[in-house]
Amino acid sequence: MLYGRIIGWGKAVPDKIVTNADLEKMVDTSDEWIVTRTGIRERRIAPEGVNTSTLSVLAAQAALTQAGLIPADIDLIIVASSSPDHLLPAVSSEIQHQLGANCGAFTLVAGCTGFVYSLVTAQQFIATGAYRTILVIGAEVISRNIDWTDRNTCVLFGDGAGAVVMQASEEPTGVLSFELGSDGSGAEHLMMPLGIAHPATHDAVDKKYQYIRMNGREVFKFATRTLARSAAETIGRSGLSIHDIDLMIPHQANARIIELAARQLGLPLEKVFVNIDKYGNTSAASIPIALTEAIEQGRVKEGDKLVLVGFGAGLTWASAVVQFGLAEKPVMTGWRAAPTRTVRAAQNKISVVARTASMRASLMLVPLYTRVSRKQRSEEKSNGNGQSK
Ligand code: ACO
Repeated sequence: MLYGRIIGWGKAVPDKIVTNADLEKMVDTSDEWIVTRTGIRERRIAPEGVNTSTLSVLAAQAALTQAGLIPADIDLIIVASSSPDHLLPAVSSEIQHQLGANCGAFTLVAGCTGFVYSLVTAQQFIATGAYRTILVIGAEVISRNIDWTDRNTCVLFGDGAGAVVMQASEEPTGVLSFELGSDGSGAEHLMMPLGIAHPATHDAVDKKYQYIRMNGREVFKFATRTLARSAAETIGRSGLSIHDIDLMIPHQANARIIELAARQLGLPLEKVFVNIDKYGNTSAASIPIALTEAIEQGRVKEGDKLVLVGFGAGLTWASAVVQFGLAEKPVMTGWRAAPTRTVRAAQNKISVVARTASMRASLMLVPLYTRVSRKQRSEEKSNGNGQSK
């Protein structure tokens, strides 16, 4: 069994900050209402021309640099997003191209829960040995799906991207246990109606089907029912107890929801990472951005056990217990003196070069094989052995 070790992390957020005071000028709201009800003080909003792919590529480049890898080292890209650049093609292919990677890529849509779903999916490819190095991104420019005259939604959301690089490891690390959930009966509570059921006609646009509609109270109730229960279930599945958890990194949708979940779990607040005040709800990007900041702030150490937990449109939920780091045993080669990351990066490059060289060699042999089999077939035919006779 192989494990997926997180070896790189990165984030990208737009420069433009929109504060609660800015929103007070746009809709009937107040800084006091937003802070006390949600914990949000400001959010980042992408300017025209900056799309989900733009932020994804920046976050991915940061994660790859951290891992000591180059785009050619990636075997698969999984992107969690509900705000793709276009409905077709998948934004994951646009990201793969812009990044200069040469691998498969797909987009996973599960609302704000998408990143945890994607991380768990990546882990399965690594566990089976199918892929060795996977880039997992959570990214949104959700501000374009917001009606900036609707105070129920426009105060909540922000744009951003976060990415991690997961690599195969013999050590028991990465995703140790998980729970993925969905209850489509609550779909109407959080929805952007535009789509095949409501194509982009004048009528649909007049009805504002291109914007997110939310029944905040219902989503709030769902979140408070689900978050702590799912986290507790997943911690149990890993064989750990709540006391073994070093840090919870929840989806950043509402500080009150996060605090309630921590209380229900019996987890002290200093073991909960919160950055919603700076970014608002960045949907699928919120957990990887928070994870990156937690690591950058020294709140995650080698071997720490984290619980990542999210909820969102669908309605969906997902949680995962993740063991951070756990360096592989020292590489016993002549390069022993070199730092592990340098050795790993060099090994990766060698394996990519080897892969490319062997691919090139087999491609060169294709005409030869074809010629041989054609010759064999015609000989068999003239001997009367051909099956097509
Ligand atoms: N400013 C001022 N007043 C407001 C605002 C605002 N921005 N928004 C709503 N209000 C008013 C309401 O109209 C209501 O007034 P009324 O009593 O006269 O009707 C009053 O404030 C209270 O409204 P509630 O909905 O009861 O407020 P609540 O305390 O539930 O907070 C909130 C609302 C913040 C939206 C909360 O319900 C929430 O966070 N829900 C979860 C939302 C969420 O997490 N969504 C994202 C899911 S993730 C994804 O996949 C995208």
